[in-house]
Amino acid sequence: MLILGIHPGYHDSSACLFDDGRLLAAVSRERLTRRKGDGRGDVPLDCIDEVLAIAGAGRSDVDIVASTRSALPQSCYRHFSGRRAIEGFVREALSREKLRFMALEMRRAGTTDPAAIFDSARFLRAYGFRADARVSFVNHHLAHALPTLFFTDWDDALLYTADGGGDNVQYSMRRFRDGGLATLYGDDDELLADNRIDSLGMAYGYCTQALGWRMNRHEGKLTGLAALGEPSLYADMARRFMVTPTGEILSEFGSWGEMKGTSKNVPIHAGSG
Ligand SMILES: [Fe+2]
Repeated sequence: MLILGIHPGYHDSSACLFDDGRLLAAVSRERLTRRKGDGRGDVPLDCIDEVLAIAGAGRSDVDIVASTRSALPQSCYRHFSGRRAIEGFVREALSREKLRFMALEMRRAGTTDPAAIFDSARFLRAYGFRADARVSFVNHHLAHALPTLFFTDWDDALLYTADGGGDNVQYSMRRFRDGGLATLYGDDDELLADNRIDSLGMAYGYCTQALGWRMNRHEGKLTGLAALGEPSLYADMARRFMVTPTGEILSEFGSWGEMKGTSKNVPIHAGSG
């Protein structure tokens, strides 16, 4: 069974191909275009065709398409109405269709079930997959967590993820035991919850921006140069974050803008040479 995984992301995009549980190929668009973090918020057809070519297969050979809940064409959604629907029809007619972020659309539609808003048949038809192929969507943090487990032989493990944010949470905790995964925090039920202002990843990104670099691109430079800096912002930032007894990270920031504003206080020291 051929399973095509896709990530139609904004700061990265990629595809991979599995034959049951065996990885056949994986490629990020940045490897094809030589542009770092090349995600354009579209379905990564170049990556899809690359992994299929590596495996000697075509789109009609794919049995399952598994996607993150990222940028997908508006025409493949079923829940648009009123002004947004009309705009969608006009854009489609003008070949200027917008791609809509699924996690946000699920929140707008008040559902945790992608099938309630997504027209899989239309998606399969539009991109040349077989009509009897299946489309499924993966939880963002589960997708982060699973690869860590794949490369261990542990039968009892805590899987903890932290990122800038995905599927409306910035962290997740899962327990792997007795051959099964139990989610302690960060599953699909959080899609409809109030967004927590708690991301250390975003704080790090804001500090990266404060130094004149680009978020999602230059954090590694900040990490490398931090060894030469002074921890002058540390006390203020540490005071605003806390870890609960159950391992959840919270912050006292009232908004992402407030977190960004505080991060701007990171001092810039001119180097001496
Ligand atoms: Fe993420």
